[in-house]
Amino acid sequence: MILLSIETSCDETAVSIVKRQRGKNVRFEVLSHKVLSQVDLHAKYGGVFPMLAKREHAKALTQLIAECLGEADLLVERTHVYHIPSAPRKKLEALLEREKDMLSAMKVLFEGIQKPAIDAIAVTQGPGLEPALWIGVTAALALNAVWEIPLYPINHMEGHIVAGILSKEENLYSIPSIEFPAVALLISGGHTELVRISKLRSYKVIGKTRDDAVGEAFDKAARMLDLPYPGGPEISRLAELARKEGLVVDEDLRLPRPMLHSGDLNFSCSGLKTAVLTRVNKRKPLTDEVKKMISLEFENSITDVLVAKVKQAMYETRAKTLIVGGGVSANNNIRYALKELATTEGFTIFLPDKNLSTDNGIMISSTGLLHIAEEVKPKSKLVANGSWSIENS
Ligand code: KG4
Ligand code: ZN
Repeated sequence: MILLSIETSCDETAVSIVKRQRGKNVRFEVLSHKVLSQVDLHAKYGGVFPMLAKREHAKALTQLIAECLGEADLLVERTHVYHIPSAPRKKLEALLEREKDMLSAMKVLFEGIQKPAIDAIAVTQGPGLEPALWIGVTAALALNAVWEIPLYPINHMEGHIVAGILSKEENLYSIPSIEFPAVALLISGGHTELVRISKLRSYKVIGKTRDDAVGEAFDKAARMLDLPYPGGPEISRLAELARKEGLVVDEDLRLPRPMLHSGDLNFSCSGLKTAVLTRVNKRKPLTDEVKKMISLEFENSITDVLVAKVKQAMYETRAKTLIVGGGVSANNNIRYALKELATTEGFTIFLPDKNLSTDNGIMISSTGLLHIAEEVKPKSKLVANGSWSIENS
């Protein structure tokens, strides 16, 4: 079974092709895996603009699919002139009516190569930036229209959960068996959620942010500190420097720990953002030392709140397993603090490989394989849904 995945929910265009091994458990080899980041483009504006992201996905995706097919040794060029038959061609033209350049690129692909040996396509249907998601979903529908390969719509947050538990031995990834109930802490640029998992595919959101997501807060705070986008890795870098130098944060630069004592499992980051802004305004022009102090205090504040909420969620759900996922799970300080919590509280923790923390195609491929293993039916009507809840995935 060979599966191709497409991920375009934010500012990474990602495609991967994986081959599932025989057997009951999901075990697979990655035949090809490419992530094209738009970070440099968005860095100029300090954040992601959905229509700009859409345009970049539209420009890149068809070529990326072709490159992955080539890398996976599944690309066979046609030696004779071939025209897409009329019925699928009409479907293709209707799907991409408003994306003429992408339509031309797809026609070149379909007319230039033979149908590849792909058995299934998994594509991110949501949540995320809807115009960006639309490109991935439409590309998947186009591949389905011409090649008649079954489609599996994937929830991006479920993808982060599956990426969180994947284990790797030599060149084989697998989805391990874990003890349920489990709790997932999902921390990305668009989401901050605690999810109770009674078994894989059964999810209940038990806590979430009331305003900004944690990753978004990192990015906005970084912008106030004149640090480049995406801000998470930058703040983390400065905070680590501050720790190494033993910097003590000035009293007037201390930050609150929002919602620490709210009693529920929800988060709020907008107050923290405002608090950073007042500190920045008071200390302008910012020295490198002040930037380091604010970065350290900001990262500590977020870490303290995440640790407290996870501790409460584990207690309330009696979970034995914690799964961490989403771009912010690449943060060293948060990883370390959650690992420590797992040791003191005696639960098992799964953290994604750092290169699978931020958006990628393998998270969508592995979730597609999970759906197939769980006998989820493929779908023919996919609709990009920017706010698709994991509970209905
Ligand atoms: O999951 P992701 O790649 O995209 C979304 O689904 O949103 O997450 C991106 C977010 C960005 O906000 C980025 O700043 C943050 O993850 N991030 C980090 C780190 N690496 C990425 N935040 C804190 N520390 C990091 N090391
Ligand atoms: Zn993500």
